[in-house]
Amino acid sequence: MRRKRTTRKVIVTSGRCRVAVLASGRGSNFRALAERCQDTTFPAEVACLITDDRSADAVAIADAFGVPWFAVDAGEKRGRLKAGAETEIVAQCESARADLVVLAGFMRILEDAAGGLLDRFRGRVMNIHPSLLPSFKGLYAQRQALEYGVKVAGCTVHFVDASVDGGPIVLQSAVPVHDDDAVESLRARILAEEHRILVRAVELYARGRLRTEGRRVLGTDE
Ligand code: GRF
Repeated sequence: MRRKRTTRKVIVTSGRCRVAVLASGRGSNFRALAERCQDTTFPAEVACLITDDRSADAVAIADAFGVPWFAVDAGEKRGRLKAGAETEIVAQCESARADLVVLAGFMRILEDAAGGLLDRFRGRVMNIHPSLLPSFKGLYAQRQALEYGVKVAGCTVHFVDASVDGGPIVLQSAVPVHDDDAVESLRARILAEEHRILVRAVELYARGRLRTEGRRVLGTDE
């Protein structure tokens, strides 16, 4: 009897995973990722930075790392983007041939509209948030945690969906809250962990390790 021929599907990868980073301010998470990506054996590279504030420190970091950056005219206020700004962001991500979009301190809310970022990059947008979600969503998460009186705080990398800070969790890291903590000391302790888990989440994504089943993102065990 003749054996049935089996074809092995070969996945052709054309290099490293290209990451577009969106940041509004200081850019320390962006810097952590850009630094790690300098190692050419790391499976991801930063394709571009997109900001809603051309005077943001993140822009100087992009220049220092030779990362192309674009400032979108997002309107006066924080929160919702001005009409047309999200279309511009999508166009920049597409022209940068981004595989993954990382929100690293991007202080704007994305619409879940057809043709918007979440639609065009479905399942490929990650955010870093400075709390152990689902606790303390939204702004001033470290202050919320301190005022609530929790003994353990931390940070979360999650995929972004239409909810605010509510998408499937990729990685979390916990830090202790000390008696003498103020918002600043707690923020600094959490931030160091943010840098670590953001880089790790991008690495896992780039290596094709992550798979999502409902709300659970699997493939993250060390
Ligand atoms: C971080 O705390 C991040 O979790 C939150 O915004 C802050 C951005 O910090 N979404 P940086 O600009 O990366 O230093």
